[in-house]
Amino acid sequence: MPTKRRAELPGTTDRRIDALLTLLAENATIVISGAKIAREIGVTRQQVWRWIEKLRSLGVRVKGHAHTGYHIERVPDLLVPQMLSHRLYGTSFARRILHFFKVDSTNSVAMRLGESGEPHGTVVVAEEQTAGRGRAGRSWTSEKSVGIYSSILLRPPIPPAHAPLLTLVAGLAARDAAVEDLDVQPDIRWPNDLLLNGRKFCGILTEMHAEPDRIRHAVIGIGLNVNQAKMSRDLADIATSLRIETRRMHSRFELLIRLLRCLDRYYNQFLADGATPILRRFAEVSSYFKGKRVRITTAKESFTGTTAGLEPSGVLRVARDDGRGIVPILSGDVGEAS
Ligand code: BTN
Repeated sequence: MPTKRRAELPGTTDRRIDALLTLLAENATIVISGAKIAREIGVTRQQVWRWIEKLRSLGVRVKGHAHTGYHIERVPDLLVPQMLSHRLYGTSFARRILHFFKVDSTNSVAMRLGESGEPHGTVVVAEEQTAGRGRAGRSWTSEKSVGIYSSILLRPPIPPAHAPLLTLVAGLAARDAAVEDLDVQPDIRWPNDLLLNGRKFCGILTEMHAEPDRIRHAVIGIGLNVNQAKMSRDLADIATSLRIETRRMHSRFELLIRLLRCLDRYYNQFLADGATPILRRFAEVSSYFKGKRVRITTAKESFTGTTAGLEPSGVLRVARDDGRGIVPILSGDVGEAS
């Protein structure tokens, strides 16, 4: 049965620009004629010329050769759907990828898409966010084309009480994706902040629309600092990027592919085998799992204690210093304490 073609969402990158970029990138070693490009993507040669200009204005280096055509000088590290989709074949995330050059927040877009019935596995990705959102009402700095700003719409067949496990799944996937580019092992601060040398380079915001017994949809929003040369003065003590830590640039494109493949793998494992393998993996890779001195800050209070493992639902257990026993932490900030 033919698949239904969905209407384009306002503000998303025109599919044909995506097709043009893919064509140029896949033929990076040759000069490809304007007429051939026009034929392949179904537009006029004038339109091809206009879009080449648009790509150049976005920093893509396309060389024009008199009488013969165009040639891309360096394949840009842009997160455009067609190329991503080819590489994600066989996962849940290959079918519907929406790309923005600029958007307020990919999580806000994905939550709206969830409301309007978009399918499980829809991915929203942006080169830049003007109002990126973090946990606890904080903002997420989202400079143009240096980080990964992506939100994934899921329709998990689980009750809302198991949602903390989804959050762990996302953190484990992001960690596995990043590890390949690193010589050191990143830590995970519960539930899913990724840390290098004690500073955060990846944060995840999980939002959902749920009824008492089922999640209608959940959005996993992932912000990964990749090629920032330095962090702003107010963030430098607590945040970092892969480039700062490794002193080299990283491919956002390859990282995002790895991240979505890992997410697919962990998510399917979670649905098939339940929480146990996820909790076991978290225990292996997070120093916050057990025996870590922490300060917990919730909306109501702030206290210190020592971590004492996770509950089967993924909730953190902390033995309080004030003698009030071991308590579950459902949400709140977890920081290292001395
Ligand atoms: C945190 O506070 O640690 C979570 C940060 C999550 C940021 C990402 S960037 C992509 C997605 N869109 C948003 O507005 N936020 C998330």
